[in-house]
Order: sequence, then structure tokens, then C-alpha cells
Amino acid sequence: MHSKDMISMFDIDANAVWKIFKITDSLIQKRLAMEDYTPLKGKSVALIFQKPSTRTRVSFEVGIWQLGGNPIYLSPEEVGLGTRESVADIARVLSRYASAIVARTFSHEDMETLAKFASVPVISGLSDMFHPCQILADIYTVWKHKGSIVDVNLAYIGDGSNNVSHSLIVGCAIMGMNISVATPSDYPPNQAILEKARDIALKTGSKIEIFEEPSQAALGADVLYTDVWTSMGQEEETEQRRKIFKEYQINNTLIEMANKDCLIMHCLPAHRGEEITNEAIEGPGSIVFEQAENRLHVQKGILVFLMC
Ligand code: CP
Ligand code: NVA
Repeated sequence: MHSKDMISMFDIDANAVWKIFKITDSLIQKRLAMEDYTPLKGKSVALIFQKPSTRTRVSFEVGIWQLGGNPIYLSPEEVGLGTRESVADIARVLSRYASAIVARTFSHEDMETLAKFASVPVISGLSDMFHPCQILADIYTVWKHKGSIVDVNLAYIGDGSNNVSHSLIVGCAIMGMNISVATPSDYPPNQAILEKARDIALKTGSKIEIFEEPSQAALGADVLYTDVWTSMGQEEETEQRRKIFKEYQINNTLIEMANKDCLIMHCLPAHRGEEITNEAIEGPGSIVFEQAENRLHVQKGILVFLMC
């Protein structure tokens, strides 16, 4: 099961994820063999961004180019989503030029409007609610390291109410991975998302737990994952969040509570000394740069899966 778009992890099921991972593996092999494989030849992909980006923009542009396609990037000022022009009009216009749209928006409603009015696939490069491409690359990375996904215990330490937390919860539920979230009581995951994820988890055997104490989530973890305390768009809350999230840090004490050989993950950009110590991100368990590299490979898999 999958929809025309990939704007949240609810758009796909485990079958579709495994198909994307299989395509990803074959694309990596083709690249290593220097095989000329250009399934996006003659196709353009519009990238419309309302927020800054390093990984998402560059990995999509490079990926589209490697597949023989033509990426066209529009900055926040150029696209003026909902200000220069309505979201619905932009979706309909771009659908007449491009074969897919990659979008980074503030509100998830804008992402949904884009998907509704575009006749081509819309792929989320992050909204305030979800970050599906990140989480697909993350699960792929865990799979490559652990050799399995089911029965892996992932602990997310940080802002439980943000896009990465939500997508991790849904992604783990779909794939049968266990997830423990440690978040301050005022920053719980969105209730509706959590309930939907719990319904899915009942069928896949995934265990979803929400704690307030980082140590409770870290106990028995195979993967410790964190993200910034202050997400894009919340800059005014930075100082307040620094106080509230002070204890929500991946550091050596927390790593010692987790399982031996625990992997350390972060979607990046990282704020060393806040949500993660320099020691932890540079330590032996850290796979953050491999995680970042896999954005490129898995997103190529998503493009081929949705467009070819
Ligand atoms: N992880 C991630 O999406 O990074 P960017 O914000 O740099 O794209
Ligand atoms: N939660 C972060 C993720 C950045 C990739 C943000 O939205 O800023």
C-alpha cells in the first residue's frame, strides 16, 4: 500500500518500505559498478523550500541528477508559498512542468494542500509535523548495522512533539521496531499521531513507550537518537527550551545505560553541548554521517519508487 505522495510515514506500509530499501540497494550497486542508469532522464523535479536546508536540498539535487533528472530549486523568497501565490495554485502550475515536487514547509496543512492539488507525486522534505525521508533513511541505516529491524529497541531523547519524533514513532510502528521516547511532560507526541501509530503497532508487534526520564527510555536501547531542542520556526523559544530540555542529552552517562554497542544517531544539524555531547557524537557508536549519507541513497529509492 502506498499513496501517490510521500508526505508522512502514514503514506506507506512495511511492504512499500521494503520495496524502497530493495531499490536503494540496487541503486547503490549500480553506482558502485559505474552503470549508467538514468530512469529520470527527461524529467524535472521541483524543490520548493520554506526553510533552510543542507542535507535535504543537496541530497535530493544530487540524487535527481545521478538518476538523470533535472532538479529545480526555488528558495523561500522565490516560491512565496501562500504569500506570493496560493499553495493550491503553485501545486497545479508545477505539476505542468515537473514530474514530482519535493517540498519543505512550515505547516503540514500546506504540505497536504500541495499533495491534494498536484497531479504529480509530492515528497516531503520536512514539515512541522513530519520528516518521512529522514526516517526512512534512518531505519535503512539501522537495518544495515543491526541486520534486522524487528526487535531493535530505539530510544529517542528530546522533543517528543517534533517532526522527527512523530515520524520515528510511525516509522517504528510500521516496521515493527520498538521505540521509547523520553520527552518533558509539556512536549508529548501529538495524540492523534500516537493513537494511529499504536493501532499499527498492534499489528506489527512494535512496542511504543513514552517516558519523562531519559534514563527510562535509554535502558536496554540498541539505538540512542536525538534531535535539536528547538526546531526551525521555534527560534523565539530557544532560551526557554534550553532550560526545559537540559536533561535530555545523549552523553556518556546515558550511553552506559543503553545496551553494549549502542548506535548513536542524530538527524543533524547538531548542537554539541545541548542535545548531544561532542564526545557522544564523535564516539565509536556514532553513525551520524552514514545516516546523513543514506539520505541520498534512500531518497533516490523513493524517487524511483514513486516516479518510475
Ligand atoms: N536532517 C535534515 O533534514 O537536514 P537539513 O535540515 O540540513 O536538510
Ligand atoms: N526537528 C528539526 C529537524 C531538522 C532536520 C527541525 O524541524 O528543525
